[in-house]
Amino acid sequence: MRVRFVEPSKSWAGNTAAFVVEDRTLLASAQAIDRASRGTLARAVAASHRFEGKKQQTLAILAPAGIGADRVVLIGLGQGKDLDLRTVEGAGGTLLADANTAGQKSLTVAIDPVPGSRLAAADLAARVALGAQLRSYRFDKYRTKEKPEQKPTVNEIRIVVKGATAAAKAYARLSPIADSTFMVRDLVSEPANILYPASLAQRCRSLTSVGLKVEVLGETQMRKLGMGSLLGVGQGSDRESQMVIMTWRGGPASQKPLAFIGKGVCFDTGGISLKPAGGMEDMKWDMGGSAAVIGAMRLLAQRKARVNAVGIVGLVENMPDGKAQRPGDVVTSMSGQTIEVINTDAEGRLVLADCMWYAQEKFKPQLMVEFSTLTGAILIALGHERAGLFSNNTELATRLRKAGQQVGEKLWRMPLGAAYDKLLRSEIADMRNVSAGRGAGSITAAQFLQRFVQNNLPWAHIDIAGMAWGEGDATTPKGATAYGVRLVDRFVADNYEK
Ligand code: BES
Ligand code: MN
Ligand code: ZN
Repeated sequence: MRVRFVEPSKSWAGNTAAFVVEDRTLLASAQAIDRASRGTLARAVAASHRFEGKKQQTLAILAPAGIGADRVVLIGLGQGKDLDLRTVEGAGGTLLADANTAGQKSLTVAIDPVPGSRLAAADLAARVALGAQLRSYRFDKYRTKEKPEQKPTVNEIRIVVKGATAAAKAYARLSPIADSTFMVRDLVSEPANILYPASLAQRCRSLTSVGLKVEVLGETQMRKLGMGSLLGVGQGSDRESQMVIMTWRGGPASQKPLAFIGKGVCFDTGGISLKPAGGMEDMKWDMGGSAAVIGAMRLLAQRKARVNAVGIVGLVENMPDGKAQRPGDVVTSMSGQTIEVINTDAEGRLVLADCMWYAQEKFKPQLMVEFSTLTGAILIALGHERAGLFSNNTELATRLRKAGQQVGEKLWRMPLGAAYDKLLRSEIADMRNVSAGRGAGSITAAQFLQRFVQNNLPWAHIDIAGMAWGEGDATTPKGATAYGVRLVDRFVADNYEK
């Protein structure tokens, strides 16, 4: 979708939106339209009873007399003094969805300074554009029979703002967010017959075009490195396991890199500990952590972040097979620690253990943040509202939580501790991959990962099993969310680019 920023003029056309704050206060453009249409908007607001200008409330007025526009949409921003940029993005997304639902060809949004808010008009304009752009995403490449009336109608949005050049500049800094978000949503949406370890690695290779260095390890190389834990998971699949290492060097040569690690299980059947049939198709999303890391690395490179970062993703397919690993098998991880694989469906942690160890051995990072759709239990605990955050370092946890708060990718810190770690004791190996009991499944998974952290390096594990896919919100259509991309971007920008 194209976005244009234009200076205000006196005429209104097509489908035009303007803002209202609580309680029923029309902003300047809405007032101007109201005057030109001899009070139509004020009468519509009075007649609606419910429309007060609360966040995301909309009121459409069709064919108002006296002006060129054939549809005017008022959208609420809530109280001006509480206005934040996420709400503004939400307004852009809501307006785009409204225009498409109404079959409108165009969307024009009039931006005005908001009374009581310190946000600059250029930033309001850019955020409306970003929100609309993010909402415009569709994964429709496999729909060959969609009728024209089922397709979105808006293909360009016009943002009317005083200081259009400044707004366009502000948007140029934000639009890479949309690009990377779309890439991640594509990766997560692709079915597993199309997106498997080698084809996902191939898509990573294409990121050399934005300036990332991309290296791919195959099974032979991983075997030489001793990655028995990761390789055991992919053992039952005809698809070769891969590890992709993406590096970005935008910081001082002496700066230790930030390491981002992602779980890339392209399909998780559970393996020999087979999952039930119902809903198993959802397990194509089990590479959501890797996609978030890939998207975040792409975004850091695209906006030339002044930081050194490395993204490492372990790509496997977890299948039952005559060659697959069995419950009870013992594997040796790259760290040298041995693992009794009690449940082959607890595969993510086995993949991540070798990724994390490789990251530390090879890159000596200053910290390590890992994303994975690791446990169904985190979905039970936190639902689709917050990802689970586990960390050995309170400063790191706080930085992540604050970044997430700003970009609408929320986190909730969960506990770790020796009592949980004890549950991973094995009779015949250094650890088992699942606890013997039924409780605290997300925590024991995190404890398992923590056993692969060297010398108490600042480390965070973010369990996104409830967040990688969703029912949709103002800026996200139903489906893949790309949770994690903006979180990493903010986390880096706020803390490591000074
Ligand atoms: N990929 C799943 C976790 C998952 C479940 C993500 C549902 C999204 C939705 C993971 O590999 C898994 O199977 N975990 C098991 C762990 C158990 C065997 C200890 C689980 O959560 O049931
Ligand atoms: Mn599993
Ligand atoms: Zn899994």
